[in-house]
Amino acid sequence: MRTKVISSTIQLEQIISACRSKGLTIGFVPTMGALHEGHLSLIKSSKEQTDFTVCSIFVNPKQFNKAEDLDHYPRSLKMDVSKLEAAKCDLVFAPTENEIYQDEVPFEFDFAGLDQYMEGKFRSGHFNGVVHVVKRLFEIVRPEKAFFGLKDYQQFVIIQQLVRFFNLPIDVVGCPTVREKNGLALSSRNSQLDTKDIPAALELSKALNLIKSRFQKSNLDALKKQAINQLEQHTKLEYLIIANSRTLSPIEKWSDAQHARAFVAAEVGGVRLIDNVEIF
Ligand code: PAF
Repeated sequence: MRTKVISSTIQLEQIISACRSKGLTIGFVPTMGALHEGHLSLIKSSKEQTDFTVCSIFVNPKQFNKAEDLDHYPRSLKMDVSKLEAAKCDLVFAPTENEIYQDEVPFEFDFAGLDQYMEGKFRSGHFNGVVHVVKRLFEIVRPEKAFFGLKDYQQFVIIQQLVRFFNLPIDVVGCPTVREKNGLALSSRNSQLDTKDIPAALELSKALNLIKSRFQKSNLDALKKQAINQLEQHTKLEYLIIANSRTLSPIEKWSDAQHARAFVAAEVGGVRLIDNVEIF
């Protein structure tokens, strides 16, 4: 069966209601398009865990803090739809900006400090834009489960807070980062990388793996300095932070947290890349 592609909120709500009346559970994968294997792994998880999978494709202007970043963001609707068709996604929702935001009711949201560091600090207003679009999409799709990649770990934790804050009956499921064999985390932005910049791009996952493999033997500060030093030789480093996985606050020694992750953002050949890994 062909995957249906719609752009109207009313039409989407009608399809969802028809699913509900048949007792089907809804799985939702929100995306900004330029789909890769990482997105398709979210579709696969949704199909395994729910009865009807909706994927949205919407490049959300509110979450870009630089106009040129929004302009350069890859757009490939036709190719995306054929990938979703091959993945047997049930429905694609590709709305216009007006369709998404026309009925939006303004709201206040408490990030509970989760936006203070990393992307929240370096991309001012970014998470505010993410929270606005995801809340709106959740209201329209009303899924039982929504699937997010752990590559955007800070986003995943903030969406969990969104659901808690507004008491939404949605299970937010985090799915593992999909990587190339060489370790590069899949990202829609990778298509903007020049081949000559790939070795430098690999420094991100190398630095994270260095920390993961040595944390039991080295003190945090020394290990972090070594990783930063390596990254600075090959990339324009924005941050390397080791943080508590729950609060997302940086830690200074390993004993400061029960669960920790390392996060990195760096520019390579003019392309901004992020990655993170669980340390313990
Ligand atoms: O992760 C993304 O692609 C976006 O931030 C999301 C969740 C689709 C919201 O626009």
